[in-house]
Amino acid sequence: MIIKGLGYLGVTVAELAEWESYGAGLVGAQIIDKTDDQLKLRIDDHYSRINVHKADQPGIAYIGWDVGSEPALQQAIEVIEGLGMSWRDGTQEECQARKVLRMVKLQDPGENEIELHYGASIGHQFKPSRDMGEFVTGELGMGHVLLLTPNFDAIMEFYSRMGFRLSESIYMDALQGHAHFLHCNHRQHSLALGAAPHNVLGHLMLEIKSMIDVGKAYDIAMYEEMKITMTMGQHVNDKVVSFYTMSPSGFDLELGAGGLVIEDLDSWSVGQYEDISYWGHHGGLRNRPSPEQFSN
Ligand SMILES: [Fe+2]
Repeated sequence: MIIKGLGYLGVTVAELAEWESYGAGLVGAQIIDKTDDQLKLRIDDHYSRINVHKADQPGIAYIGWDVGSEPALQQAIEVIEGLGMSWRDGTQEECQARKVLRMVKLQDPGENEIELHYGASIGHQFKPSRDMGEFVTGELGMGHVLLLTPNFDAIMEFYSRMGFRLSESIYMDALQGHAHFLHCNHRQHSLALGAAPHNVLGHLMLEIKSMIDVGKAYDIAMYEEMKITMTMGQHVNDKVVSFYTMSPSGFDLELGAGGLVIEDLDSWSVGQYEDISYWGHHGGLRNRPSPEQFSN
């Protein structure tokens, strides 16, 4: 596998204060490096995992995928060139800004600006902004993202060539088709891909160790009357119990606990499901259950 895990995300927003209150108040992230045009969110021992940049439009600026080493980056470049895609080296300023040793920048087939990198700055102390425990990261990476694109076959090809393996496929009414869930480490999925009319980042998922902390975050979202895009529920594939809120950058943020870890990657058997969740997750992507699903 070339890509080892989700490294970081760069997002944009018109008012940085929105991410400051959302990131600290709901997520519990530590706010660092706040200036007039950016702030960063720390959730573990990495320097930062979410970099928030001030811009006219809310959205995604870049997705950082950790490849772990120079040989892996060279392998990635071979794949990129083999597919006829263009790339460039990240400048010294860009590497310094992300606090990585080296990065290669390109657009994936979903027109996402991606940064393949290694040598992230680690060993920092995470102090959550509210009373809570740790996020589940480490060798599992930062979490997972759902990417939607009209270029579904091309994006599947690209990330498969980067070493992602299929975990399962799930039929989703909202997409009128299957979404594919893929792993690149022991996290059940670090990437989900679906076909849609437009290129969009559907959601970012962050996993918290304690279900109690996820429940407390749900309480905060309810009390603060945040936009809950999917209610608390349990996914069929990674077994995560989670809920979704609309982040200030326009994509959903999923906060959950209890994610399945694939112990033996070589013996994983691919399955398919007909709905994304056992229960809950009302709104958004959840298929509407038919009455017979509740009877014997
Ligand atoms: Fe998810």
